[in-house]
Amino acid sequence: MSLPNQRAAELRELLCRYGHEYYVLDTPSVTDAEYDRLFHELEALEATHPELKTPDSPTQRVGGRPVAAFVPVQHAVPMLSIRTETDAGPAGAEHYDAKVRRDLGLPADAPAVVYAAELKFDGLAISLRYEHGLLVRAATRGNGETGEEVTQNIRTIGQIPLRLTGQAPAVLEVRGEVYMRRDAFDALNARQRELGEKTFVNPRNAAAGAVRQLDSKIAAKRPLRFFAYGLGEVVGWEIPPTHSGMLDALGAFGLPVCSERIVAEGAVGLIAFHASIAAKRDSLPFDIDGVVYKVNSRELQQQLGFVSREPRWAVAHKYPAQEMLTTVEAIDVQVGRTGTITPVARLAPVFVGGVTVTNATLHNIDRIRQLDLRVGDTVIVRRAGDVIPEVVDVVLDRRPMQEEAVDLIETRQVPKYAPFEMPSNCPVCGSHVVREEGEAAYRCTGGLVCTAQRKQALWHFASRRAMDIEGLGDKLVDQLVDVGLVRTPADLYRLGILKLAELDRMAEKSAANLLAGIDKSRTTTLARLIFALGIRNVGETTAKDLARFFGKLDALIDAACREDELAALAVLQSVPDVGPVVAQSIRDFLQEPHNREVIEQLRANGVSWSEFEPSEAVPMGPLLGKTLVITGTLPTLSRDDAKALIEAAGGKAAGSVSKKTDYLVAGEAAGSKLDKAQELGVRILDEAGLLALLATQSEQ
Ligand code: IVH
Repeated sequence: MSLPNQRAAELRELLCRYGHEYYVLDTPSVTDAEYDRLFHELEALEATHPELKTPDSPTQRVGGRPVAAFVPVQHAVPMLSIRTETDAGPAGAEHYDAKVRRDLGLPADAPAVVYAAELKFDGLAISLRYEHGLLVRAATRGNGETGEEVTQNIRTIGQIPLRLTGQAPAVLEVRGEVYMRRDAFDALNARQRELGEKTFVNPRNAAAGAVRQLDSKIAAKRPLRFFAYGLGEVVGWEIPPTHSGMLDALGAFGLPVCSERIVAEGAVGLIAFHASIAAKRDSLPFDIDGVVYKVNSRELQQQLGFVSREPRWAVAHKYPAQEMLTTVEAIDVQVGRTGTITPVARLAPVFVGGVTVTNATLHNIDRIRQLDLRVGDTVIVRRAGDVIPEVVDVVLDRRPMQEEAVDLIETRQVPKYAPFEMPSNCPVCGSHVVREEGEAAYRCTGGLVCTAQRKQALWHFASRRAMDIEGLGDKLVDQLVDVGLVRTPADLYRLGILKLAELDRMAEKSAANLLAGIDKSRTTTLARLIFALGIRNVGETTAKDLARFFGKLDALIDAACREDELAALAVLQSVPDVGPVVAQSIRDFLQEPHNREVIEQLRANGVSWSEFEPSEAVPMGPLLGKTLVITGTLPTLSRDDAKALIEAAGGKAAGSVSKKTDYLVAGEAAGSKLDKAQELGVRILDEAGLLALLATQSEQ
């Protein structure tokens, strides 16, 4: 048995290595349980031999008493900021490269300047001071000259080494960004909500709040991370001659350095980097607000120097902001296809996430109450990627005092700042609005009486993936409903050219085209018809499953409408992937006499769909019973083609990867689904692999 001091040193080293593998490299070599076992062993050893405790012991990350206030720290080398290129397009990179060349006095024919291009992380800047390899201090940026000491909190970040690996310099100040990953942020907010505590607006605020926590035990519960991007004071180290080389060296010291960086030549290289990161921005696990270009050579950096506290050798090139402030001009409600009433904020137009936004969903009344949102409020609107814009927070400080609000009401102006209430009647048809038990959503009870629902039901019915009626767009549906020509989908098949041609802006020719489109849709498949009916919770895949299982529409109706409700639901649930909620929706829909009447009318007006004996319907094929997921762009097949081929071979094309996935078909630019599949050990195919699989004989 080794001596306690030897064993303690051994444990510290092991835990430090495993921690680095886990937090920085993302490739743990031992299980969490093994790590915990060693950790507890060290803790026990230190408890019986307190003299063995060292400041770099992994047991010392969390601890110490809450502090009363932060101590100011004078930065030995000031923490500077960088200029932002004003042009957010490619011209921004060109402009910067031209300026660097001018500042360096390079002639036009001189070779391209070499840059290190990296991400501009959206967190907060931190300076870590290592002396002889030991983390001795961590400080915030503050005003650049003086920051605040936050060592205790920073020590809780598992990714930050308490001791550097290898030959460490006498002094090494590492600068970088503390941030929170988006998944960790979402989990944190979910937890806060559960505890009834305040949620955070965005990962940056959550990270900044955690770093400035006076109690490091609270900070330890906020999963923070770190990326190194620069240096402060350095003593006793020959700094590598390039920025990229310096970052590599920091990585070798055990510090986390982001791998999403390149060495780029000239404006062309910078533009390519800017574009490639823009394309990836939404799939990165953390927020960035742009990219940063740095002249790679330290010698050239020194030559370029600084201007008014900003280096000439670095610049930020931003992307459109994904969060902006604006004001709420009104709160309206929208009626969805199945009657759900959703509150929507009407906003003063604001440019966010690359588009001008004037509306944002508020989800439901609970969300509005949680935000305490009122008309007139200043709010933060977020639009990331193609996700619909969302109000993430209210800036309560900007709401005028209560008296002013009362004044507004008393002077009979717009009753601003009054809490929002859901209407008790549908704003479109006046029917009662109900909130079903256990649901967040309110619903209009009008069904097809409600023109809002009717219009959307018709849009859906005519849509490409449903009955695919060419020439019948949303505007035309609105018009047909408004003038009273169409009430139900069956009415479409009774339209005549004379009535149609009377419509505004409808030429005889387009009327004829529309009728031809409607006529063409008369012959369809059972799956399309079921999908087109617009049953709640029945999407395209479920519609296909139902068609395959029942073979005939009447078989489905008979099953769903059996007198014995439990028996009906049980039969429906024997369809693959149909659960209790979907089964109930199908029964509710088909039991409504007016819905069955629509089906009868469709039949009477010559709409027909392929029917077959369910026994014949059992698919055959090499992919029978297999679930596949397609991701990325395939070289020749469109997504729909690949899906159709898979289904024709008896397989199922699912939307997301899970343990039940048999194959992932991955094309160009495959993202998180590919990672997930690899993680779960799902077999991965390319297009050629899929085609080969389809060509094999069925196993039966
Ligand atoms: S370099 C002397 N690199 O952006 C250059 N800064 O104004 C010092 N930031 O608050 C900064 N990502 O926290 C640099 N890759 C990166 C960065 C980065 C984010 C932040 C930094 C600072 C601001 C620069």
